[in-house]
Amino acid sequence: MDKLLIKGGKRLQGKVKISGAKNATLPILAACLLTDKPCVIKEVPLVQDINTMVELIRSLGAEVNIKDKAIEVWAKDRLATEAPYEIVSKMRASYYVLGPLLARFGEAKVYLPGGCAIGPRPIDLHIKGMQNLGATVKIEHGYIDAHCKKLHGVEIFLEGSVGPSVGATANVMMAATLAKDETTIIGAALEPEIVDLANFLNSLGARIEGAGTPRIKIKGVETLNGGEWTPIPDRIEAGTFACAAAITNGNIEIENCYPEYLDVVLLTLKNIGCEIVINSNTQKDSFQPKTITVKTPTLLKPVNIDTAPYPGFPTDLQAQFMAVLTIANGTSIITENIFRSRFLHVLELNRMGANIEIKDNTAIIKGVKKLTGAQVMASDLRASAALVLAGLCAEGETEVARIYHLDRGYENLEYKLKNLGASVQRIKA
Ligand code: UD1
Repeated sequence: MDKLLIKGGKRLQGKVKISGAKNATLPILAACLLTDKPCVIKEVPLVQDINTMVELIRSLGAEVNIKDKAIEVWAKDRLATEAPYEIVSKMRASYYVLGPLLARFGEAKVYLPGGCAIGPRPIDLHIKGMQNLGATVKIEHGYIDAHCKKLHGVEIFLEGSVGPSVGATANVMMAATLAKDETTIIGAALEPEIVDLANFLNSLGARIEGAGTPRIKIKGVETLNGGEWTPIPDRIEAGTFACAAAITNGNIEIENCYPEYLDVVLLTLKNIGCEIVINSNTQKDSFQPKTITVKTPTLLKPVNIDTAPYPGFPTDLQAQFMAVLTIANGTSIITENIFRSRFLHVLELNRMGANIEIKDNTAIIKGVKKLTGAQVMASDLRASAALVLAGLCAEGETEVARIYHLDRGYENLEYKLKNLGASVQRIKA
């Protein structure tokens, strides 16, 4: 298994271009299975999770051609409808084929993803959504087995005990595009990736209104066309590079991102003392990707963070901000409300000299003067990013093991960091 060797203490400076959003591209690739016409998805981030989705849709029988960063999916014939254990166990987001397969072919059998390193991750809301649309769903032999003659539009309350679900909203929205009559999702997730998926589906001829609000209306259509789409840039990658600036006392221009999708993140950076400048060649108020410059003061201020569904602070940036706050001048408190035990990075950060204490779903981070390099182990995608960030500012060498987690979701991370002046080296296993 590859490792990253980081020599800390370099101040990062320069420009970095953000890649397409993995979490927007995954459901969009699955949505291509809703039509028998070809779809081309451009500027796709070439990361392991995307490879896994490609492997899955190929295994179902769809034709997939990859040229540079464009992926063409053509599901022209009847597909197989079983998403097997071997693939789903590599990536939870494989469940995104459930809605499209069920809606188009009347059946879908998807291996039931279990919990994962960040705690229990139920998928009851996905199942409830499909049942509400008229499917019969059984859980048997570790699989979700869903059948229907034709899905029927209905009003569905989709919010769970901790709020809306991104995955369930996307899955039900995809399924409802081909259902008879109108579906209303109440308690829908508001994430930008949901809006992007809805825009893509509408470009194929779907009739979705209200994506980005808690109430999404989908008027079913008989068939969808093909088309081309470029997914939105990755707001979590952008936030990670903003943290790289903050933790190294750096100055980074982060190109190709929507500041509007990072409101609370940018506010948090300002609260810890960073200067944020939005540069744009486009008209001030036009909705286009822009460049965000993050300049960092010598001493960071502490801050309190509560993760929440969008537009709240993203759980996917919790670990990275925790790494930054380990060296702030005072005590910060982070409360994790989405995945309550998502703190696997804490022990490793403490091994690097951080002072973090966990109480239930709250981390109390007492800022220290410096971190020191150590051998640490990555445990999930964002935790791995946090350890890399810590390594960038730590005294001496840090070796981050098991970086296949990073490869799942960050495109060319070490290349991009090196370009900003970091000393990062991949050691091949
Ligand atoms: C997506 C993102 C992930 C991010 C998460 C929260 C992708 C591929 N993954 O994951 O990176 O961390 O959103 O922003 O886009 N829940 C239920 N029942 C369900 C589904 C979810 O109770 O059926 C709960 C979850 O346990 C969690 C909360 O709802 O507490 C939000 O999860 P959800 O939005 O569904 O996360 P994912 O879509 O899996």
